Amino acid sequence: MSDLKKKAKKVLENNWKNGFSIPCKDLYPFQWNWDSGFIAIGFAHFDMTKAEQEITTLLDAQWQNGFLPHIIFHTETDSYFPGPDFHGSDLHPQSSKKYKSTGMTQPPVTGFVLQEIYKISKNKKATLNFIKEVIDKVYDNHNYLYTNRDPQNEGLVYIYHNWESGTDNSPIWDDIFATMESPEYEFKRRDTSHVDPSQRPSKREYDHYLHIIDIAKYNNYDDKKIAELSPFLVQDPLFNSMLIKSNQSLIELYQLIGGNQDRIEQLQRWQDKAVKTFNEKLFDKEIGAYIHYDLRNEKPLRFVSSSSFSPIFANIPSKERAEIVVKTMMEKFGNENQYLCASFDPTSEHFNPKKYWRGPVWVNLNWILYNGLKQYGYSDIAKKIKEDTIEIIEKNGFYEYFDSRKEMHSDGNAGYGGNDFSWSAALLIDLLES
Ligand code: DGY
Repeated sequence: MSDLKKKAKKVLENNWKNGFSIPCKDLYPFQWNWDSGFIAIGFAHFDMTKAEQEITTLLDAQWQNGFLPHIIFHTETDSYFPGPDFHGSDLHPQSSKKYKSTGMTQPPVTGFVLQEIYKISKNKKATLNFIKEVIDKVYDNHNYLYTNRDPQNEGLVYIYHNWESGTDNSPIWDDIFATMESPEYEFKRRDTSHVDPSQRPSKREYDHYLHIIDIAKYNNYDDKKIAELSPFLVQDPLFNSMLIKSNQSLIELYQLIGGNQDRIEQLQRWQDKAVKTFNEKLFDKEIGAYIHYDLRNEKPLRFVSSSSFSPIFANIPSKERAEIVVKTMMEKFGNENQYLCASFDPTSEHFNPKKYWRGPVWVNLNWILYNGLKQYGYSDIAKKIKEDTIEIIEKNGFYEYFDSRKEMHSDGNAGYGGNDFSWSAALLIDLLES
């Protein structure tokens, strides 16, 4: 086994906490929803029991209405803010009675993660038995999303908080925050005692993050009220791509299991509508990529980020349209001085290659794009994205994100955010096996 793979396994083993994984020590000391999905893919290569437990624990925190929270607070610690008391998700009558959690979700990756685990498994029968046990919960989650998060019945679901996007402080949200009159909160940041503040969101951004939570809390996390009142209400191409990819995986897994025709048909109906509206509403011809739509202010958010290319992972564009999307990606993000793929448009004035989701390269997005590019036959670019990912980890370690500028990587100090970060390790293992 290569040294790098050994190191990756060690990161995962160290972050394992008896039934679930933390993304990394101190900065993220609980279980995060989409992190768990990516982590399970890594574990599936060498410890299927842990991969399954990771998913089982996540689904155990599901609410009665099918909702899956973004953080599950398994332990008490003051190394993270905002914790369970600030979120107060027990205000929702159907929230989990067993676990404390947030009242927001994250990109729905669990469906396609189950299929990835199945593909990796060497004991297909046992893995299919596991999938049989959990698949209905994932279906219920999709049902929750399409039933409660699509007020205009378009086939696209909204997110009501930037933390639901996974791309927490992307410049895409700046215009929305400018419409908000958030109070100045007094609170003690914890993240900036673990990580250089220049790599994290600003205090003013945190005011907005907390204000959106307060509005949801004031309305007991009621979805209808949130749809009516949240100042942040966005149709996000990354979130919807993950859902569409997961719909397809659930269809294929239900077919494998046999039976449950009603669910397969319902998934197919969601899928057909979603793909159609996605292509009609979220593709910007002039930009040549997919963009976000601000449902609250009824306007497209015309920025290019790595999320703009994620629909290729979910087979959303036609072959012709995929060609346009990949061309835009290479023209804007594929400069030879840049590693693929910056999280935000390097040609934009808002680009910041050090600051979280405002520019750095992220391993999970690279993994998504790598698999999407392969699907459409772009094997050379896929290979480049894979090699870039391996190289930045080899040079710097298993960081949370990395400077996209090649020139910054000469002394091994171009990894930012948390170190020994679980999904960087997990998806590296998967890339090395692919
Ligand atoms: C954080 O605390 O920055 C998390 O990413 C929120 O999900």
